[in-house]
Amino acid sequence: MKAAIATRYGSPKESLRVGDAPKPRPDAGEVLIRVEAATVSAGDTEIRQMAFPWYFGLGLRAYFGFFRPRRPLILGQDLAGSVEAAGSGVTKFKPGDRVMAFTGLKLGGHAEYACLPADDDKHEYLVAPAPKGWSAAEATTLPFAAFEAIFFVDKAGVKPGDEVLIVGGGGSIGTFAIQIARARGARVTAVDRADKHAMMREIGADHVLDVGVRDYSEGGARQFDSVIGITARTPFGRSVRALRRGGVIVLANPWINLLIRGLIVRITSGKRLRLGAAGHAPADLAKVEALVADGALKPVIGETFALDDIVAAHRYAESVGKTGNVVLKIG
Ligand SMILES: NC(=O)c1ccc[n+]([C@@H]2O[C@H](COP(=O)([O-])OP(=O)(O)OC[C@H]3O[C@@H](n4cnc5c(N)ncnc54)[C@H](OP(=O)(O)O)[C@@H]3O)[C@@H](O)[C@H]2O)c1
Repeated sequence: MKAAIATRYGSPKESLRVGDAPKPRPDAGEVLIRVEAATVSAGDTEIRQMAFPWYFGLGLRAYFGFFRPRRPLILGQDLAGSVEAAGSGVTKFKPGDRVMAFTGLKLGGHAEYACLPADDDKHEYLVAPAPKGWSAAEATTLPFAAFEAIFFVDKAGVKPGDEVLIVGGGGSIGTFAIQIARARGARVTAVDRADKHAMMREIGADHVLDVGVRDYSEGGARQFDSVIGITARTPFGRSVRALRRGGVIVLANPWINLLIRGLIVRITSGKRLRLGAAGHAPADLAKVEALVADGALKPVIGETFALDDIVAAHRYAESVGKTGNVVLKIG
């Protein structure tokens, strides 16, 4: 099968090539999915570069290979397409079913085919019916970005009437976080570059701020019940200052120095730092399905690329100005 393969860690051009890879075969309990679309996420570009602080990077290098990938690596944390074959014992899916999937650390979305467990007790992977009426390009935005966004919004304890600040609102997770916080009844202020402001308003942000704004509370005009810091560049001090006493800050990138600062802030001001990663358990899927059924989620797709243009897709995904989700069309 055709796949985008990473043979070393580094820039898109030095790491990635499109080539042949063995077509996977479904074992008992697995489904073989013909992939039609997958996203290129910030997570993919970070793994491609192994751009992590040492305390995360060490574990990931032990898993994928210390100095270069142990075996040719096919990136892609999500995908959407149709079931081509089901291994023995699979009753949940049959050939032809339209599905979306989260591939977890198995990755593999950037290829013509992928095999995943139809049911995973540990919820490290997920295969689920794609929403009816959604294209594969739209459906593939859900398993990674929408699940993360729901997790962060719920971790912040967002409730009706809350003032919520979302830092990095114009990216993959952020565009869903804006919509979910609004669906939970909050008033949303979203921070990102000016060229994404119109889009962020269109999907539900009540107020938008530019990345360069020094005071998110705008002189006390607005104080936040929660701040959801999605970009790794979320300014911690600026975010905490914009919170009410007792407010919550949730960070997608829990760097060690921020954990220490979070502890100090908790003791001195009662503002709380919360962290964590999204799950893919049936309860998490049910939340996504409920939001989709309510019409609350509209995927934002900044750019679409063919699998052959994988280098350009990675360059765009890590460029300044990247908007929403980056989708690869495959097959
Ligand atoms: N905790 C977890 O388990 C977990 C899970 C998934 C992802 N993550 C992390 O979450 C992060 C974001 O993921 P994503 O997929 O949403 O990334 P993304 O699509 O790149 O979105 C980040 C957004 O933030 C914007 N931005 C950059 N600097 C900013 C600043 N100073 N203020 C406000 N906005 C700024 C970016 O704009 P420009 O692109 O124009 O600079 C972009 O629109 C990644 O670092 C990823 O590793 C964590």
